[in-house]
Formats: sequence, structure tokens, C-alpha cells
Amino acid sequence: MDSRSFQDHFFKKAKISGYRSRSAFKLIELDKKFKFLKNGIKLLDVGSFPGGWSQIASKKIKKGKILSIDKKRIQELEGVKFILGDFLEKKSKEKITEHFNSNIDVILSDMASNTTGNKNLDCIRTNQLCIDILNFSKETLNKKGTVISKVFMGEDFDEVKFTAKKYFKNIDFFKPNSSRDESREIYIHCSGLST
Ligand SMILES: C[S@@+](CC[C@H](N)C(=O)[O-])C[C@H]1O[C@@H](n2cnc3c(N)ncnc32)[C@H](O)[C@@H]1O
Repeated sequence: MDSRSFQDHFFKKAKISGYRSRSAFKLIELDKKFKFLKNGIKLLDVGSFPGGWSQIASKKIKKGKILSIDKKRIQELEGVKFILGDFLEKKSKEKITEHFNSNIDVILSDMASNTTGNKNLDCIRTNQLCIDILNFSKETLNKKGTVISKVFMGEDFDEVKFTAKKYFKNIDFFKPNSSRDESREIYIHCSGLST
């Protein structure tokens, strides 16, 4: 399927399913593979606009606690608390930590930096966001918790791997079928925080 037909296919599929984004299918695939969306969990969704991932999480998780954050406001979703803000700012991190009492089961990040037209720069910026998520996880995740984050194959990819290996015992990479072949995007899955 060429890139245009691929986008159209998932755009139509998202519309029919009532999902807010094509990205929703990526989370469905990620959960099928790693099985982390469970009842009763505390979940953080970072870079959540327009809300596709939070939507899937709220459907799958019963009696849990879901917090989602983005620089852009999402439309309200039942069962999801939203923070409008920049995740990189100290005050956003403090709000998140307070909300969960530093005890999160699953941290998801689909954050991507704004595209500049320079693919290497975009890659570095998005991978630095991933590294920030890993550093934050080290402080706030349950020992048995899971982190899943977008990462780009390219510059700084080794630094992402290095940081993940420093903190976690189990690391996997997965590219959902709903992620375009030509995109450098893949997802890192980390579990088993080292003490
Ligand atoms: C690919 S979209 C997320 C799509 C979402 N997972 C969904 O299913 O609808 C990436 C998002 O990351 C957000 N983002 C990037 N940097 C951020 C930051 N520092 N703090 C908060 N959100 C950020 C952008 O505003 C953008 O909405």
C-alpha cells in the first residue's frame, strides 16, 4: 500500500470505529503484543492530543486511574483526567507525581516534537523526549510497572537504548502495522525496573 492509501485506510478505519486518531490502532496493537491495559491500573498518557490512546485506555481499563497530558487541549473523555501543559516543565511533573503519589503502573508516551523539515533534528528531539520519559519513569513507576514510548530509529537511538538498559531489566522494540513502513517511528517497551 502506498503512503497515501495507507493514511487513508487508517483514517477511514478510525472514523468508522469512532476513534479520535489513527494512532489509536497503534496502542491496540501494542497492547495485543505486551498486554498492559488491565483493570484497576494507574496509567499516564503523555502527548495525548487528540486523545486516541486515552480513549482506548479508558475503554479497556475498568476501575483504574487515567491521567493524560498534552500542550494541546483534548476534548473531555469520561474516566480521564487531563492536564494542559508541557510535560518537560517541572510544574507538570509535580502535578503528575502528586496525582499518582509517585506510584504509576503504566506510562505511555506518544510525544513527538514539532516537525522542522530536518529529519535528523526531528529524530534527535523526539528521542530526547523519550529519554526524559525514561528518567521520569525511574522516579515514579511501580517496580513492576511498564513504560511504552515512541522512539525514532536514527540519531540518539543508542542513547535511548543505553538509558533504558541502565534502568530496566527487560527491553523490547515493536513497530505496529499501523505505523507507516517508511516512518522511522517504533515503540520501546520497558519493564522490570532495576533497583
Ligand atoms: C502523535 S501525537 C499523539 C497522538 C495520541 N497518542 C493519540 O492517540 O491521539 C503527539 C503529541 O505529543 C505532544 N507533545 C509533544 N511534546 C510535548 C510536551 N513536551 N509536552 C506535552 N505534549 C507534548 C504534541 O502536542 C502532540 O499532540
